[in-house]
Parts: sequence; C-alpha cells; structure tokens
Amino acid sequence: MHTKITFFSRIFARNFNDFYDLKYKRMSTDFLPLNGTDHIEFYVGNAKQAAYYYQQAFGYHLVAYSGLETGNTDRTSYVLQQDKIRLVLTAPLKPDSEVAEHVRLHGDGVKVLALWVDDARAAYEETIKRGAKSAMEPTVLSDEHGEAIVSAIHTYGETIHKFVERKNYKGAFLPSFQAASSQMEIKPVGLKYVDHCVGNVGLGEMNNWVKFYEDVMGFKLLITFDDNDISTEYTALMSKVVSNGNGYVKFPINEPAEGRKKSQIEEYLDFYKTGGVQHIAIATDDILETVGELRRRGVDFLYVPDNYYDDLLERVGDIEEEVEALKAQNILVDRDDEGYLLQIFTKPVQDRPTVFYEIIQRKGAKSFGKGNFKALFEAIEREQALRGTL
Ligand code: FE2
Repeated sequence: MHTKITFFSRIFARNFNDFYDLKYKRMSTDFLPLNGTDHIEFYVGNAKQAAYYYQQAFGYHLVAYSGLETGNTDRTSYVLQQDKIRLVLTAPLKPDSEVAEHVRLHGDGVKVLALWVDDARAAYEETIKRGAKSAMEPTVLSDEHGEAIVSAIHTYGETIHKFVERKNYKGAFLPSFQAASSQMEIKPVGLKYVDHCVGNVGLGEMNNWVKFYEDVMGFKLLITFDDNDISTEYTALMSKVVSNGNGYVKFPINEPAEGRKKSQIEEYLDFYKTGGVQHIAIATDDILETVGELRRRGVDFLYVPDNYYDDLLERVGDIEEEVEALKAQNILVDRDDEGYLLQIFTKPVQDRPTVFYEIIQRKGAKSFGKGNFKALFEAIEREQALRGTL
C-alpha cells in the first residue's frame, strides 16, 4: 500500500510539475518578442538640413534616401546610421500631406518608434487582439533586395510603433529607399545604441499608457518615480518606466505633477500640442570623448552648477573618471546597487522646446539617474526661465 501511494504520488508530482512548467512557460512566453529598436523617424520641416546637422554634429552616416529622384513625390527621407542607431528624417514635399500636417502642429518631432521583430504580422495581430489601434495593417514591401514586412499601431499623441520584419531583406534600409552616401567627411562620435526613449503624456494619462504597454505590448513596469523623487522648489513630474521581456526596449513615461510653476512636461505639451517623445537616450562607451566631440561640433548641453561636483565622490563612491574631467564637460554621475552611470542632456534640438537627447554611459547601473533628477530639473528650469515658459 505504502509503495502504491508513493508510486501514485510520484506520478502526480511529475504530472503536476509538467503541467506547472507548461503553464508557467505559456504565461511567461513573450507574445511580442522584440529584437530592439529598428529606427526612429522624425517628421521635420527640412530633412535636407536636418540630415546635415545629424551627420556633421552627431557623426551619423547617410545610408539611404527616398525622394523625387527615387519616384517619391510625397515626401523626402534621409536614413542615417551610427553603429546600431538608425534615424530617418522625413520632410513633406506638399502642403496637404500627413507629414506637413504633423510638422505644422508639432514642429519637428518623433513620429515613429520602430521596433525590430521577426514576425511583423504576429506582432500586429497580438497587439491588435489586446486592444491596440491600427496605424498600418501588415504590408509586404519588396524590391530587388528582397522583401520586408511592416505593420504599425498607435501609441501616445500622434506617435506610432512600427513593427519591422527585415529577415528577408538585404537592401540599405527598406524597399523604395535607395542606398545613398554623402560626399562629406563624417567622423562618428561613438554613439552605440538607443538605451531608452521617453514619452511625455498629459496630466492623469501616465497610468493609462503604462497599462497600454503592459496589456497590449506585454511590457513590465520596471520603476516608478513619484513627485517626491522628481521635484524641485518650483516644479514636479511623475514617471514610470516600462520594459519589454528581454529588456532591449525601455520606455519611461512622464506626466506633469502639481508644482508652484510650470513644469518642463507642461512646457513640452504646450509646444508639442499632444503627448510625444521627449528624449532619446543614446549609449556610448566613452562619454568624455563623445561629449567633448559633440561640444566641439556645436551641440548644446544643459548646464549644471560647479557645486554639483563638490561632494560628488561622497554621493557616488569611487569612479574611474577624474571628477575635474567630468566637471569640465558637465557630465553627471549616479550609482545604484549594480554599478554607476554617467549621463548628460542636450538642449532641445529644434526651435520648439520639445525633443532633446541624453547621452549615457552605463558602468553596471541599470537605472536612470534618480540621484541627478533634482540637479537636472533645476537646469531645465533655468532654461525655461530664459524662454519665459516657467
Ligand atoms: Fe533618460
């Protein structure tokens, strides 16, 4: 009898474990596997001049082009690349186009955060099934270099996520684009990959968008910052960071919080007119070199007062860099349980105070520089004061 019970309980245990494993695996299966950021597309007023700025100042190479010469009578696009980062700069050729309307309303800004997938049809179906709003049904694009499949869904404001499947495509970018290169001498500045892309949304909308990324795209909430973490004497904001299954794609989402003066998020919304991409963080392996080079080429960065550096080492512990070198470049440092990070923010890169860049070097740290929030927001407030928008 005893033997029998043991025997049955073993069978039960094995089946239960199998069942549990299967259920667990099914639950933990990523229904939207992402290989990373495919490209970021800006709609701009003048793509030719924007492309010159990104090539000369940021060291991107021109790799592809679409426009009148390639039979595109609606818009012109320049595709620029540096290491794993691909930017597309698109301008309208006609007044009555989607691109022209976007630029009229928002100024230059990010229209597309494109995600690289192995199956653009499945990505579309899985997200639509969970409540995403369609921006483009799966579309097969082909030319002599092969076939790519693209689909898209809406996210905050007028921003969209494109799913790009390019495993059967060998061309420079996507079908309808022609390979291109510039006559200019281009010197890269060490930009490696997109670390995270931050969105600003309206008051009270942050949690809805976090839920969208959780429910519709299968992302997980990584970190929450409330207005106690992110406030200065005058302004406040709240932020939550969502990340996809493998952690390659991270989207912090900000909303304004009650403060004595107008926060940078409200300023953004006033000028962008809807929610949209606030900043793109780009990783480098040598921030001192990268930022030094960007400064020499005329990229403007936020200024942080010298006293930030007075007790830096007491706050962040030992670091490999010389404090004086960091101070000379205005680079900020923060530490978490896993290591430290170095970061700096540009001023807005177009006339409206909307999109800007972060340059980040991670030395173990996986966080976002919480220890620097106050210094950064005070730096932004000084800029807002100059603009008369605080
Ligand atoms: Fe950031």
